[in-house]
Amino acid sequence: MKLLVINGPNLNMLGVREPGIYGNRSLEDLEAELRACCTARGVRVEFFQSNHEGAIIDRIQEAFGSFDGIIINPAAYTHTSIAIPDALKAVGIPAVEVHLSDVFSREPFRRVSYTSPACIATITGKHFQGYLEAVDILLEHIGSRS
Ligand code: DQA
Repeated sequence: MKLLVINGPNLNMLGVREPGIYGNRSLEDLEAELRACCTARGVRVEFFQSNHEGAIIDRIQEAFGSFDGIIINPAAYTHTSIAIPDALKAVGIPAVEVHLSDVFSREPFRRVSYTSPACIATITGKHFQGYLEAVDILLEHIGSRS
C-alpha cells in the first residue's frame, strides 16, 4: 500500500504563512506526522509540494500505476483549477482533499472547490489532523475494494 501526499502553492511556507489561520508548524512537521502515522499502519508514503499547477498535474499522472491513494491539498488551485481534478479523474486513483483551514467559513471564493467532485472525501478545518484522518479514509476505502 502506497500513498502520495500532494501539497499545493504556498504550503511550503507553513509555519511562517498567516499563522493565525494555518498554525505555527511547518510542512516538514506535517510530513513527519504523516510519515509516523503511515509507518504505524504499515503504509508507504511519498510527499510532493509545488507552487505550479502543471507540476502538480505531472505528479498526479506519474502516480498512475504506482500509488494506491492520494491525499491532496491543492491550496488556492482548489478554487481555480479544472485541470487538477481532471488529472485525478484521469488516473483513477482514490483521492481525499484536505484543507487546513475551514474554507467554508472564510471568503466566499474559498467555498468553491473544483477538486472535491474528483475526490472520495473532503476534510476542512482540522489542520494536521485532517491529513491523518485522510490516511484512514483511504485505507478503509482501498480495503473495502479489494
Ligand atoms: C487551503 C485553503 C485555500 O483557500 C488557500 O488558498 C490555501 C490553503 C487550506 O489548507 O486551508 O492556500 O487549502
